[in-house]
Amino acid sequence: MSEIKQTGQKRLVIVSGRAHPQLALDVAAHLETDVVHTDARTFANGEIYARYDESVRGADVFVIQSMPAPLNEHVMESLIMVDALKRASVKRITVVLPFYPYGRQDKKGRGREPISARLMADLYKAAGADRIMSVDLHAAQIQGFFDGPVDHLFAMPVLLEHFKQLDNTTLTVVSPDMGRVRVADIWSDKLDAPLAIIHKRRDPAVPNQVSVHEIVGEVEGRVCLIVDDLIDTGRTIAKAAQALKEAGALGVIVAATHAVFSDPAVELLQSEFIDQVVVTDTLPLPESKRFPTLTVLPIAPLLARAIYEVFDDGSVTSMFDGAA
Ligand code: R5P
Repeated sequence: MSEIKQTGQKRLVIVSGRAHPQLALDVAAHLETDVVHTDARTFANGEIYARYDESVRGADVFVIQSMPAPLNEHVMESLIMVDALKRASVKRITVVLPFYPYGRQDKKGRGREPISARLMADLYKAAGADRIMSVDLHAAQIQGFFDGPVDHLFAMPVLLEHFKQLDNTTLTVVSPDMGRVRVADIWSDKLDAPLAIIHKRRDPAVPNQVSVHEIVGEVEGRVCLIVDDLIDTGRTIAKAAQALKEAGALGVIVAATHAVFSDPAVELLQSEFIDQVVVTDTLPLPESKRFPTLTVLPIAPLLARAIYEVFDDGSVTSMFDGAA
């Protein structure tokens, strides 16, 4: 009886939603491959359709979808893309969500609230995702919401590389609220600079409004580096920067992973209280959202390396000194 043999070659396939196609192209370029074209369309009534232009049978597929506004459209499109892959007999589906949707709804702050970050994980699982990859989740516990492996990548090495020339003798790392203290503490270790913390308050009844209550730590005569996971309307950062300058800070630099930049962020980030803003391109940044004091660092090399490690059964943890 003759043996049935397989060719045994694994095949890596990158597909992209319509939210941030340039990011998928950049990732594919780093991997020296192409993005398999998706015929994605939206019908007159808003329904979305997706079909792949070539066979993906047996492939290890990475669906890259970023989440700018209108976020719900992009979530739905990625779910439909996953469903199409499942029905096309792929071997494994990894959903790459550089910016995890609804990450800020990670717990119930008050009664009768949803935990929408969990709902997202359930939706991807139901659609057929085997694993999720994301960058700087708003809260690390979101990893536990998905019933399967989650590769939680950190943008910190990308951002730190940019700041390695900063003079740390006058530098203070600042957490803009209590939620970022742990991450800011790691930054302060890495840069060998002290830490300050801002006590921020939000009124739960008024969305997107912020007030600063007090600054804990020494900021007078210091260059303050505020680190945050995301900038949405920019109010958190603007209020923090103003408070720091009023407390005698020499300069204010902002580092954030996800540039959501909803209105009026672009205006607020150019205020007299902010000297520099550094972000990554986990989200698309059109020219209209760019300004002279903004630096955008590419996240594609990090994503490409992590994708290759997953494909090659390597180690994503090794990319982050064992921390991921
Ligand atoms: C809050 O916990 C987050 O880390 C951000 O600081 C916040 O969501 C940014 O929102 P905005 O820019 O609208 O103040």
